[in-house]
Amino acid sequence: MTTSTRAKQAAEKAWPSGKRRASARARANFALIKYWGKADARLNVPAVGSISITLDALWSDTDVELDPSLAADELVLDGQRRAEQLDKVSACLDILRERAGVRTRARVVSANNFPTGAGLASSASGFAALVTAAAGALDLELTPREASIVARQGSGSAARSVFGGFVEMHAGHAPDGSDSFAEPLLAGEAWPLEVAIAVTAKGEKEVGSRSGMTRSAKSSPYYAAWVGTQDGDLAAARAAIGLRDFEALAEVAEHNCLKMHAAAMGAVPPLLYWNGATVECLNAVRQLRASGVPAFFTIDAGPQVKAICLPDARPRVEAALRAIPGVLDVLVSGLGAGAELR
Ligand code: DP6
Repeated sequence: MTTSTRAKQAAEKAWPSGKRRASARARANFALIKYWGKADARLNVPAVGSISITLDALWSDTDVELDPSLAADELVLDGQRRAEQLDKVSACLDILRERAGVRTRARVVSANNFPTGAGLASSASGFAALVTAAAGALDLELTPREASIVARQGSGSAARSVFGGFVEMHAGHAPDGSDSFAEPLLAGEAWPLEVAIAVTAKGEKEVGSRSGMTRSAKSSPYYAAWVGTQDGDLAAARAAIGLRDFEALAEVAEHNCLKMHAAAMGAVPPLLYWNGATVECLNAVRQLRASGVPAFFTIDAGPQVKAICLPDARPRVEAALRAIPGVLDVLVSGLGAGAELR
């Protein structure tokens, strides 16, 4: 490399003038086998592996602009400045800035096309989009696995939104978190499941996933059993996905979801993420399946019910959920792609 090329590269790294920006889209994912609990809070390493599906209809669009005139990072989420979320965003940006060897602060503007913080996986799509856009703005070429590791440090579920279709997140064992990443299990086109999402409450949830899982780990007598039985559920779900065995996936996913909520309900003080309509939806999905309609439910740290079904069954599942008092809206989605620059 010539001296002038090196000098040019050094000047670019310092970015004394001029701004760099990139935009990315990442889609939400729903875990069928859940992540709940951390092995290492500082590195945000999960205590358990998880398996998810990435959706095509729910996404975050994030724009990252590196601006030398900024003294601190800025975050605008859905049109509002969100100071309380800035630490997590800056921590994620710092990992990438360190790798790129730059200190320039960033203006992050992100928007979700679905309700934020209501148990619809906005942190998953948000951090996957952030990492993808920031790496683009910093001109860093990350492998998807590297992007997944960085996204995990923003939000554990975000590690999965880097990929499309069916995705498995490995808890990992390495003390530095280097083997705690997600990877694709099966392309969405290979088994195009659909999802009907019953929205039973709007607005942000009272206890976020992060504090909910900390509380469960500290105080729930069921937490150890939750962690101790996860590998069996992961193996069953992996096998069901490999065989496209809907009934087997339905059984293990509903079991795993209710077990996660049992661990949360056993916390002190208890965590109850459901409302009455949540329970009605859950019963409706169980009745549909009992009557031969291929559908099963999952519920995250919020009151919304996600009904996963085979494509032919989707209109029927959607109509059944819409008819339940207390269901405010039903969103529908197929399976989608991984995070991408736009
Ligand atoms: C119930 O990924 O939001 O949705 O890593 O603390 O940001 P942090 O948690 P987060 O937790 C998601 C929990 C869940 C289950 C899941 O998505 O696997």
